[in-house]
Amino acid sequence: MSLPKKVRIVEVGPRDGLQNEPQPISAAVKIRLIEQLADAGIRYIEAGSFVNPQWVPQMAGSDEVFQGITRKPGVTYAALTPNLKGFERALASGATEVAIFAAASETFSQKNINCSIDESLDRFAPVMAAASAANLPVRGYISCVVGCPYEGSVVAEKVKQVAERLLQMGCYEISLGDTTGVGTPADIRRVIETSAKSVPIEQLAVHLHDTYGQALANIYASLEMGIAVVDSSIAGLGGCPYAKGASGNVATEDLVYMLNGLGIEHGIDLNKLLAAGRYITTQLGRDTGSKVAKALEKR
Ligand code: HMG
Ligand code: MG
Repeated sequence: MSLPKKVRIVEVGPRDGLQNEPQPISAAVKIRLIEQLADAGIRYIEAGSFVNPQWVPQMAGSDEVFQGITRKPGVTYAALTPNLKGFERALASGATEVAIFAAASETFSQKNINCSIDESLDRFAPVMAAASAANLPVRGYISCVVGCPYEGSVVAEKVKQVAERLLQMGCYEISLGDTTGVGTPADIRRVIETSAKSVPIEQLAVHLHDTYGQALANIYASLEMGIAVVDSSIAGLGGCPYAKGASGNVATEDLVYMLNGLGIEHGIDLNKLLAAGRYITTQLGRDTGSKVAKALEKR
């Protein structure tokens, strides 16, 4: 199958990445990172989350982050919101879009958001209504689309059911999350093929953690199936606090390098992106998770 001409990159590093870094990170550093990412040409940045700060302390200062960003026209600054309280905080802080998150595994849902999958969808209904009233688009995530850290394999049919519900509730796009990164291209193809029976392929995105080193291969398989929206994390930062051992999403630098090689448009300046990755890894005092950044820094 032919590859898309253009891919939209959803940068999740400031949220999915930083939520899992052990050391405290100031709002000023997060703001500087977000501004550098926008300056590199990224048009969609998940800048933080409004979850219970006792559950994820790293995201406690998201209000300050959203309020402190010097905004670039044309850039979406999105927030992850688990319930109406989170939505109201996001709205008050000036998020321009929100994301709700469900799971395809019951145990993960309980561990991550303290309720069953059905309860979580009920909880999102008032968020959808409030977002519609405020004119904010809502993106939906599904975690554990291939495997669950507690239950093992997850069947694609379950992913399809949750995707269908999120679509019916009004999400304009559904991002399929391989939270633990266990999937290989065969699994990802199966999940996309099954989900696409309920959700048009243009409304599906992939969110692939690179724990098993499969993310780029899985993205390539997704592109071949017509997916044109890919989530990634600067410097490969992150993981998930409720999926022990999970590493970050595919590094944005590695994704951009691959898209460049394939001649697929994305609008991002790789050198500026590398500078943003250098900035945040220096601030965190950790190595980059991007192979491309490592290779290019050596030259
Ligand atoms: P709960 O404890 O069941 O909530 O948590 P509750 O409604 O019973 O409230 C308990 C207390 O929390 C109350 O305070 C609420 O006000 C407060 P109290 O009255 O006791 O003082 N509270 C809040 N405070 C601030 N903001 C809020 C909020 N909500 C309640 N939004 C809840 C339920 C969903 C809130 C909790 O489980 C939670 O915050 N979970 C989030 C966990 C999380 O952030 N996980 C990581 C993100 S998901 C992810 O990384 C996966 C993804 O990347 C895709 C993939 O890779 O798979 C998206
Ligand atoms: Mg994630």
